[in-house]
Amino acid sequence: MVRINENFLKLKAGYLFPEIARRVSAFADANPDADVIKLGIGDVTEPLPAAVTAAMHTAVDELSDRDSFHGYGPEQGYAFLREPIAEHDYKARGVNVSADEIFISDGSKCDTGNILDILGEGNRVAITDPVYPVYVDTNVMVGNTGTANEAGQFANLTYLPVTEANNFVADLPSDPVDVIYLCYPNNPTGTVATRETLQNWVNYARENGSLILFDAAYEAFISDDSIPHSIFEIDGARECAIEFRSFSKNVGFTGVRCAFTVVPKELSVTASCGTEVSLHQLWNRRQSTKFNGASYVVQKGAAAAYTEEGREQVRGLIDFYMTNARLLREGLESLGVRVFGGVNAPYVWLGTPDGLSSWDFFDRLLEKGHLVGTPGSGFGAAGEGYFRLSAFNSRKNVEAALERFKSAVG
Ligand code: MLT
Repeated sequence: MVRINENFLKLKAGYLFPEIARRVSAFADANPDADVIKLGIGDVTEPLPAAVTAAMHTAVDELSDRDSFHGYGPEQGYAFLREPIAEHDYKARGVNVSADEIFISDGSKCDTGNILDILGEGNRVAITDPVYPVYVDTNVMVGNTGTANEAGQFANLTYLPVTEANNFVADLPSDPVDVIYLCYPNNPTGTVATRETLQNWVNYARENGSLILFDAAYEAFISDDSIPHSIFEIDGARECAIEFRSFSKNVGFTGVRCAFTVVPKELSVTASCGTEVSLHQLWNRRQSTKFNGASYVVQKGAAAAYTEEGREQVRGLIDFYMTNARLLREGLESLGVRVFGGVNAPYVWLGTPDGLSSWDFFDRLLEKGHLVGTPGSGFGAAGEGYFRLSAFNSRKNVEAALERFKSAVG
């Protein structure tokens, strides 16, 4: 008889974004004339940078010629992409990460879930709350948690609230944890971590033998020079951290799919037999077995984002979305809404007005303004009473949304 992975049965609701899409589609069916503006999922709207599409066209042409055709590529990614990443994302910032510590993939969502393949059962896992739901759900799937309570919090997970009460800076866990997920700039709150905060985490991890899984998918949106872009800017992080990065939001690759994970060679864990095991080698083994690399065309496109022309065009995209974030922030502040984030991150985090619950505010916005955002409680119990807006949209939609907020909020 076939057995299923019964951990999946602990996941009560659907994944957050499909659940929102389901509700919006029910609303649209009932209100076919409503022009709904979506500021929910952080999905890019602007076309790819011209340097990127030109490189992808050339790559397609290469594949149509026997002499320049490519079949399987290296599972870890092509050097033509790993090298400019090491150069521009790390060396240029004085950070020591070599090209062969960079593993190219088809997305950070997959990588943050897949990394659990190389970690053992029974790790005590800490997450900030609210949090990107993938970290929680993937730990539920592998059996690192018990069942969820009424508030949706899973037994055996350590939740570290980040709210206005602690200025969105989580306290270090009071009981030791083995694995810590950190995401900065933060999804969903749009807040950032200072060097000091990250140093505290690295010190904690080294003292407690923990591993930090650092999601830096939004680092390109940092404008404040004092804020670290990488966990590897912090002393000691190479011994205790793995970093995830993505081309989804800065280069506009949500549909194209390309990302990378950095696993330093120093990073090792003691196996139950007492042997020191390199996580770099384990991840390499995992990727070589389960992954055949991101597509050649996509990697060529990603590499073009590091050319001079590409970098300038990516900068233009980031500036465009961050202007949206500023407009949302300022517009909502002028309506008296409590607004956080949106300065070094493309997400604006609101305190819901009139003491509404996150989902009640979602309903009010949809009904009164035909606007969609993401209920804070969908990111965790401590997100209740908050709401996330994504700055990834056209300027026209952001401006129209701000007008509509006046009737829904004011
Ligand atoms: C989000 O809206 O939180 C992101 O788009 C989700 C993701 O990157 O997977």
